[in-house]
Amino acid sequence: MYSTKWVILLIIAFLGICFSPLIYNVSAPGFELEMPELDEPEGDHCIEDADWMEPNHMDLLLEMRTQTIRDPGGRFYESKTYPGEVYEGTTYQCFECHTSKTDFCDTCHEYNGVSPYCWHCHNTPEVLEEYNR
Ligand code: HEC
Ligand code: HEC
Ligand code: HEC
Repeated sequence: MYSTKWVILLIIAFLGICFSPLIYNVSAPGFELEMPELDEPEGDHCIEDADWMEPNHMDLLLEMRTQTIRDPGGRFYESKTYPGEVYEGTTYQCFECHTSKTDFCDTCHEYNGVSPYCWHCHNTPEVLEEYNR
């Protein structure tokens, strides 16, 4: 024969185990991932509107590449937001104002889980600093 007391205790223990993930979920601290602070850029505006740059800078860089490599005399990029402003059509142009790749580009890329492969070949201020030391 079995003892009612043990059966009830076992049922309670079993239910406790079943519900433990829910209990943990309610009592554990919430998961928060805050957007990290980005390095303050130099200059008073980006080469295009900053709100446009945020989602489109990768396409702009690729457009710059095509233009620079394929168009004769295409080594310059004319801003569409600020007509008359002309920039060199190179990846390094970005670092004239965003002086740290680590604290600007990488910080946001890490947060978003992207790792552009451009820097296997293209230069960064960090690489130049290391090289000139
Ligand atoms: C395997 C090496 C390699 C990789 C990786 C690479 N590039 Fe380039 N890129 C080059 C070479 C070589 C040129 C030609 C340089 C020249 O003519 O001045 C060039 C030229 C460019 C140019 C125009 C000139 C300049 O100096 O910036 C842009 C813009 C550019 N690439 C963007 C990119 C972007 C954006 C990525 C990543 C998505 C990238 N590249 C990845 C090798 C590479
Ligand atoms: C002449 C200086 C200058 C150059 C060159 C420049 N930027 Fe900017 N960029 C700025 C400034 C200043 C801001 C912030 C403007 C604002 O918040 O209104 C900015 C903002 C941005 C932002 C938005 C950041 C955010 O917090 O959302 C991105 C992305 C960006 N730049 C990428 C680039 C890339 C990629 C290049 C090269 C193709 C580049 N920038 C070239 C000055 C520059
Ligand atoms: C405010 C956030 C933010 C900042 C700052 C930022 N990026 Fe990005 N970048 C992104 C996001 C998000 C993506 C991925 C977008 C996608 O996959 O559609 C991306 C993608 C890219 C890509 C394309 C990668 C690929 O493999 O296609 C390049 C190139 C790039 N960023 C260059 C830069 C450079 C250079 C800087 C600094 C001058 C910079 N980014 C700063 C958010 C940022």
